[in-house]
Order: sequence, then structure tokens, then C-alpha cells
Amino acid sequence: MVCCMCSRSVQILSRQLKVSQLRVFHIIAMDTVPPAASGVRSASSFLFDKAFVDGQWVGAKSGSVYQITNPSTGKVIGSVPDMNGDDTQQAIEKANLAFLKWRDTTAKERSLILRKWFDLTIQNKLELAKLLTAENGKPLKEAIGEIGYASGFIEWYAEEARRVYGDVIPSTAASKRMLVLKQPIGVAGMITPWNFPSAMITRKACAAIAAGCAVVLKPAEDTPFSALAMCQLAKEAGLPDGVLNVVTSSRDNAPAVGNLLCTSPVIKKISFTGSTVTGKILLQQSASTVKKVSLELGGNAPFIVFNSADIEAAVQGTMVSKFRCSGQTCVCANRILVQEGVYDQYVARLAEVMNQELKVGDGFDDSTTQGPLINSKAVDKVESIVEDAKRLGARLGCGGKRSDKGVNFFEPTLLSNVTLEMRCAQEEIFGPVAAVIKFKTEEEAVAIANSSSSGLAGYFYSQNLSQIWRVAEKLEVGLCGVNDGLISAIEAPFGGVKESGLGREGSKYGIDDYLEIKYVCLGGI
Ligand code: SIN
Repeated sequence: MVCCMCSRSVQILSRQLKVSQLRVFHIIAMDTVPPAASGVRSASSFLFDKAFVDGQWVGAKSGSVYQITNPSTGKVIGSVPDMNGDDTQQAIEKANLAFLKWRDTTAKERSLILRKWFDLTIQNKLELAKLLTAENGKPLKEAIGEIGYASGFIEWYAEEARRVYGDVIPSTAASKRMLVLKQPIGVAGMITPWNFPSAMITRKACAAIAAGCAVVLKPAEDTPFSALAMCQLAKEAGLPDGVLNVVTSSRDNAPAVGNLLCTSPVIKKISFTGSTVTGKILLQQSASTVKKVSLELGGNAPFIVFNSADIEAAVQGTMVSKFRCSGQTCVCANRILVQEGVYDQYVARLAEVMNQELKVGDGFDDSTTQGPLINSKAVDKVESIVEDAKRLGARLGCGGKRSDKGVNFFEPTLLSNVTLEMRCAQEEIFGPVAAVIKFKTEEEAVAIANSSSSGLAGYFYSQNLSQIWRVAEKLEVGLCGVNDGLISAIEAPFGGVKESGLGREGSKYGIDDYLEIKYVCLGGI
């Protein structure tokens, strides 16, 4: 079952087999997941080759599996069940049975389990991060940051579970009392993305679980292992069987799984993070059962640098906003708009800092800041966007081509003289390409920023207080960074306007999407 094994892999393997029969034991390239220090659970002991339904590790009814590869090396990490509609239907039924009990637990009981899950996640932070880097490719430091972010949502919702208050409404009739109850909505269906394989699981699932809902979740095809590792820790924390179910599927089966989640009358809520195209399809499918829907869809973030900006701060903000996860976040700066008075200074300094600070390579190499893109299709897209810009007259400041590090790598690229008809100014790039556009006036910048059908994040740099208020109010976005390029936070609401989505995640608002409001009128007093 095991091939290409080094002796280190054999040691890990024998240790993990002692731990549990359920651990993956046909890992083909264990060296893609480095071992832990002795005595600590290894990353490979969190690598499960089964889906998680009703508290059990299960295969697809068909027996089908598909392989997961490390996007950096192309090596196979392992395989997971390729589940279809039938498998998903079974998970939905189990979730519904679990929901009928879970909804009756007290907020404190739910809180304590979530808290324990948080503790376990923190204890195993490094090993979870290694697993994440192996399947997603992001640098290990970033992966550690993501596990911190992911566990933060577990902790947050452990706390929020106990803050779901109803209301007593002053009654207009002396004989009546008017009350508002908040109750869990039911079984929630979730579809999560590959760019944050852990954090997007906990941001959604823990809100639902805290509210008293059960969950059927389909993780991204490319990154199921982080989701499955989270299930193991939830189980260890005492989460009852069936409250959290993870159904894995390949790209071929994903539409059937998604369709069932959206059309099943048992599922009362859908939460999806991913592309706008897919979000629209899921929204249409959900209409058939009038489901509540949360969508975190694509962005096309404007990043505006005004003449009054602190240019050094703006460049540092660009670096963090643009190049986090190699440019593959929905909130990455996409259209960098720089006012003419500081344009040349900004472009020159950005080129300098990009050359100094960005290093492309494998995520397990300590010096790497830019890992691979998720797959070769992503590289093809980024390459064609850069070619289009060059053809239409953009100037190349650095990069501009595939990297020699491997098939999924693209060099961090700076394009200046970008104009609005270029694809890099129209589409979400989702790669390490900074496209810089010159503008003259505040009105022009705001008009360009708002010309997109997307409205997730927007950023601007200015030292002019009146301008700060004006622009913050005018930008058509759900998240606005003023003199800051990294604004996502557990405590803050995350979500977009326009075609970037519906609903908010995280923060005190995130749990509302999993609650129904019931008005109770008590008469005859
Ligand atoms: C995303 O890109 O979908 C999430 C990014 C974040 O939470 O900062």
C-alpha cells in the first residue's frame, strides 16, 4: 500500500498505526508532510483517507477515491472518498437526526465542547499547519497564521454561543406578553474553498454549531485533509456524532453534491465561499426550497493611494494585501489606483520592496514568502492576464512569467501603466500580480472603484481626514481598509455587497445566519 517511502516515513507510519486503525495508511508520498518532534502528534497522524459522517470515518458507497497532490511538488499526499449525491443524502439524514438532539443542548454545553475543540486545535497548531501547507502550498508561517485564525473562530463561537439573547417587547395589550425567541435554523449545508482550508471551515461551521445547528460540509476538492483533521479534533472534544459531517468529492461529483445540499428540503441554510459564477448557480438551486443563503463570492478590490498618503505605509499595505496566499484571497488588492502626484514614487518603491521581500518557493522552505498557485489552470489564467496587459501596453516592473520553481509557480509581477480595458483591471486576478492604474481626482478613483459588479473589500491610503470619511462612506464594499492592508479579523464582520455575496461571517453578526427569529405572543394574562 505504501510506496516511495523513506525510513522517516516508516517510523511515522508505524507510530500512526498504533494510534488508530483509522489513520491513513496508504500515503504515497509521506515526505510531503514533514514529521513532528518526538512526543508530539505528527502532521501525518492528522491525515485521514475517509470522509466523516455521523462521527464515523466512511468511504464512498461506490468505493471511489481520488488523489490529492501537493501543488508545490506535484507529489500525491493521499486520497479521499469521491462521494456523490447518495453519500450526501445519507450524511444529510444523519445530520438531521443529530440536530434533533443538538438543538436541545444548553448554550453552555455547546460552548464547553467548542472551547475544548479550540484547545486541541491550539495544542496541535504546528502539525495542522504542516498538513495545510502540504495540501494548499502556502508558506508554513502563513499556514500557522491560518490555524491561529481558524482556531480563533472556534474560540469566538464558544463565547458567542452564550450570547444569543431573545427579546421582550413592551406589549400594547395589558393581557398579552410579547417575546422573541432565537432558535437554530436546522441542518446547514456548507461548501468551503481551498485558499483557507481550515479557517473557512471553522468560520462557518462553528457559528452553526454554536447556534445549535448540525452541519454537512463539502470541503474544496483540492484541500479536504485540513477539514477532516478538524473533524477528528471536534470528535476528541466531545462533539456528538452527526453534528459535523464532512463529505469529500472530486470536481466531477462536486456539482451533484452541491445541488443536493441546495435542493434538499432537510437542509435549511446554505453557506458557500467561492467563485461568483458558482455562487449564482447555488443561489438559483436554493430557491427551489426557499433556503436562507450566505455567499462569500469573488472580489475585485480597489486599493487606492491618494497624494496625501504615507507612501511607505501604502507600499507595505500593498505587500500584505496583494501577496497574502500568493495573491489568492478574495480580499487581495486587485486594482491598485494611484494618484498622479505620487504614482512614480509608489511604483518605484513597490518594485524595490517586491524584489527585496518576495521569495518564491516551496512552503516548507523557511525563506519562502510566495508558494505555488493551487493548480496549473490557475497559472494559465494568471499568465494570460499578464500577456493581455503587456499586449495592451502595460509596463513590466518585475516578474511577468512562470517561475522555474515548478509548474504551479508564477513570479510576483508588477504591471504599471495599466488601463481600464485590460483584463487585470476587470477580472479578479487571484495570483501574485500587482496592476497599477494612474488616476487624477478623488471622484475618478471612487468611480473606478465602484464600477465593478463586485464589492467585497476595498482599501485606501490617505492622511486627509475629510477625504478618509468621504471615501470610506462612498466605496461600495463590505470591508473597508483605511491605511491598512490586512483587515480580516475574527471579531469583525466579513462579507460583501453587490455580486460579492450575501450575509456576514465572523463577529457578533455571524451567528445570526444560523438562527430563526420566532415571535411568541402570550395572551390571557
Ligand atoms: C477569503 O479569501 O475567502 C477569506 C480571506 C480572509 O478571511 O481574510
